Amino acid sequence: MTDTAAPAADPRFESVDAVRERLRSVDYLSDEGIAGIVYLADRLGKPILVEGPAGTGKTQLAKSVAEITDARLIRLQCYEGLDESKALYEWNYKKQLLRIQASRNAEEQSGWEDIEDDIFSDDFLLTRPLLEAIRAEDPVVLLIDEVDRVEVETEALLLEILSDYQVSIPELGTVTARQIPLVFLTSNNTRELSEALKRRCLYLHVDYPDMDREREIVLTKVPGVGEALADEIARIVRSIRQLELKKAPSVSETLDWARTLVLLGVEHVDAETATGTLNILLKYQSDIAKAAKELSGDQPGPGRPAGSPGVTGR
Ligand SMILES: Nc1ncnc2c1ncn2[C@@H]1O[C@H](COP(=O)(O)OP(=O)(O)OP(=O)(O)O)[C@@H](O)[C@H]1O
Ligand SMILES: [Mg+2]
Repeated sequence: MTDTAAPAADPRFESVDAVRERLRSVDYLSDEGIAGIVYLADRLGKPILVEGPAGTGKTQLAKSVAEITDARLIRLQCYEGLDESKALYEWNYKKQLLRIQASRNAEEQSGWEDIEDDIFSDDFLLTRPLLEAIRAEDPVVLLIDEVDRVEVETEALLLEILSDYQVSIPELGTVTARQIPLVFLTSNNTRELSEALKRRCLYLHVDYPDMDREREIVLTKVPGVGEALADEIARIVRSIRQLELKKAPSVSETLDWARTLVLLGVEHVDAETATGTLNILLKYQSDIAKAAKELSGDQPGPGRPAGSPGVTGR
């Protein structure tokens, strides 16, 4: 039994390993932690709050889970100023006005109460992503993307959905989900989320992948990349991430770099090639300069004695 209003669905996954395998089948390389939380969220009927640096696969996780569960992805992209009328629902005022006018023109005998009942019915409701997800009859995955961008007051709009999978519409009553959707909220941690929101979710911190997983991601996602090149790319990116940078390279930048190297016909990344293409990985001149210095072996890298070679040293 869950403490939610909506009925519990049949489990979508038989084990944590099954989650991992199925994610892999759609080219999403997870780890034990990621797959474990997805498995639990399904079993417990709880939303997942996914936090972590930019470009580490938070949004893609929700998309991939939708894909492997044959569910429709419904996405609410959050931004500053997002309000109820864009997140939940709004009344179709134009249509309501026309309906009122039409009844006047026809000199309808019906009283105002009848008209009111009519114009606040389903036919006049414009559903937005949150309500759409709750009312869906087919399986859905709800992605509330970059939730840290909305004001803290706006978070309150989400609370009823996240704990009870229902939406209260004053004029219509309470709409309850027929099935508990899998819900992902993502955050880049630009501000603290409210306790009320966090309490309703399972928490998943997605960090940069370790070297093996990043190499696998490169091999899976970049056509034409060889094992040796993927290995070098993962190593170099890891060493760059260990520097004190304004903005460390994300997985998406690793992938862009790998595609660039393949396009350039590179089979082996030497210091010169790496330095010449750093602008794909890094977006601040000061970071590029720091990384170039590290790659050329001028300065002692993390965990490496001074004078030992940069890129090519194994
Ligand atoms: N584990 C992974 N397996 C496969 N691809 C991945 C993985 N992690 C990241 N990627 C790839 O990296 C890219 C960026 O991922 P995504 O957009 O999901 O990041 P994000 O964490 O949502 O970033 P942001 O915070 O900027 O929105 C995508 O192309 C995605 O496919
Ligand atoms: Mg994202």
